[in-house]
Amino acid sequence: MEHILAQIVNNPATHAKWLNTLSMMENSGARKIKNCEHPIFVNEIILKHAAEEARHAYYLKKQIQKIEVGACPTYESQYLLAPAFSYYYLDVLDVKVCKYLKTKYGYTNDKLKYAAYLLVTYAIEVRADELYPIYQNVLTACKNSVNVKSIIAEEENHLLEMRAQLRVFSPDWEQMCADTCAMEKELFMDWYSELGKEIMGN
Ligand SMILES: [Fe+2]
Ligand SMILES: [Fe+2]
Repeated sequence: MEHILAQIVNNPATHAKWLNTLSMMENSGARKIKNCEHPIFVNEIILKHAAEEARHAYYLKKQIQKIEVGACPTYESQYLLAPAFSYYYLDVLDVKVCKYLKTKYGYTNDKLKYAAYLLVTYAIEVRADELYPIYQNVLTACKNSVNVKSIIAEEENHLLEMRAQLRVFSPDWEQMCADTCAMEKELFMDWYSELGKEIMGN
């Protein structure tokens, strides 16, 4: 992972696309939370979480300006890395998790929506907590002016909050989390290998 990230950071055009890709994924995370939230029973934790994911999307977009002013203005595929995989990563995970929750636990409607929010978000937080610190280490080692420290601090909190909510949600939460993380890992590996092909092909 460090190796690919160093390649990305050392090439400004690729680095801008990397930031834009992360921004797009954070934004779709924020949208997913908004889609899942209950219009009446939504609580402060969920509102905060959606707001912070939206902030991450904006913050990453702003970091691009440190590399090249005006680069990657939209999330069109020419401005992203591994665009097809990046666009669908969250959606595919969501579909798989919903199917799993329906078949294994029989959840439907609002309960299904809330359970999918908890589990999909949990798996993404686990991934974010692994990925952002590695990326920050590479940035620091390369003395790059981009930094994601404020995101790391919030993602760590999100993971704790997701665990707390899951614990209350179901006595089976640990099994559900392990199954969801296994589904996420498969998708991440596909995304990562596509990314590797693109970066090494540069
Ligand atoms: Fe985030
Ligand atoms: Fe998060």
